[in-house]
Amino acid sequence: MSFRKAQIAQIRLVSSHPEVYEPCDDSFALVDALLADRNNLLEHQPTLCMEVGCGSGYVITSLALMLGQEAPGVYYIATDSNPHAMRVTSETLEAHGVHAELINTDISSGLEKRLAGLVDVMVVNPPYVPTPEDEVGREGIASAWAGGENGRCVIDKILPIADNLLSDKGWLYIVTLTANKPSEICLQMREKGYAARIVVQRSTEEESLHVIKFWRDFDTQADAKEMVATNKTVPGRVMESLVSQFHLSSFWRSCGSHSS
Ligand SMILES: C[S@@+](CC[C@H](N)C(=O)[O-])C[C@H]1O[C@@H](n2cnc3c(N)ncnc32)[C@H](O)[C@@H]1O
Repeated sequence: MSFRKAQIAQIRLVSSHPEVYEPCDDSFALVDALLADRNNLLEHQPTLCMEVGCGSGYVITSLALMLGQEAPGVYYIATDSNPHAMRVTSETLEAHGVHAELINTDISSGLEKRLAGLVDVMVVNPPYVPTPEDEVGREGIASAWAGGENGRCVIDKILPIADNLLSDKGWLYIVTLTANKPSEICLQMREKGYAARIVVQRSTEEESLHVIKFWRDFDTQADAKEMVATNKTVPGRVMESLVSQFHLSSFWRSCGSHSS
């Protein structure tokens, strides 16, 4: 285990609030995905890293620590719609000696002009649990998990926003469940010119959780342009390959392993 990884393992829960999501398996999976990709992240030399829905601050603090002094000058921004998350995240960051600008807003509302095309790394552990639509966006802790139909309500808002905010070399890491139809999410992003890879997958008896990384890819962009120009749909082989990735993962049973 490297020094940086050891630092991450020591992240302390210094602050909490009954209405703020405490780091859980999904938060750990997202941080594990970032750690698994840490060397790539360092080579990527991000200038601006952003977390949408920071909750306790566990993920943004971990990211700032793992990039640390090897990636000097990185600016960190984190948003959350829950005002209590601002204090908890601020205290978590401070206790670990790192800094991020915190903004209490809906996804990135009010920041689009300032951040368009500038975010090099975006990380999101969204509310993804399938619930009745009217539970989405309620005040308090329910907004941490309530995802509406197929758990996709907030995810589907985030994807086009991410496309707008990400820089040309920007990467998006997002947590999804099988119930969110991740192959459909990959297809939507493919139509915008993004390639995708599962960085981490975890399963329980009932569900599989994936951390998917998206990046703009020249070949995928060319395919996407051709599809628009010729009014064609995604080739069957692409669809089959997307579905099979997530289909296979639902048979994957041993919690705690990485796919990469
Ligand atoms: C599953 S929790 C993840 C928290 C933290 N990132 C983690 O991994 O432990 C989802 C977070 O997204 C926030 N959230 C929900 N809807 C949001 C929205 N529309 N805009 C910004 N944040 C939102 C919730 O308040 C919550 O903190």
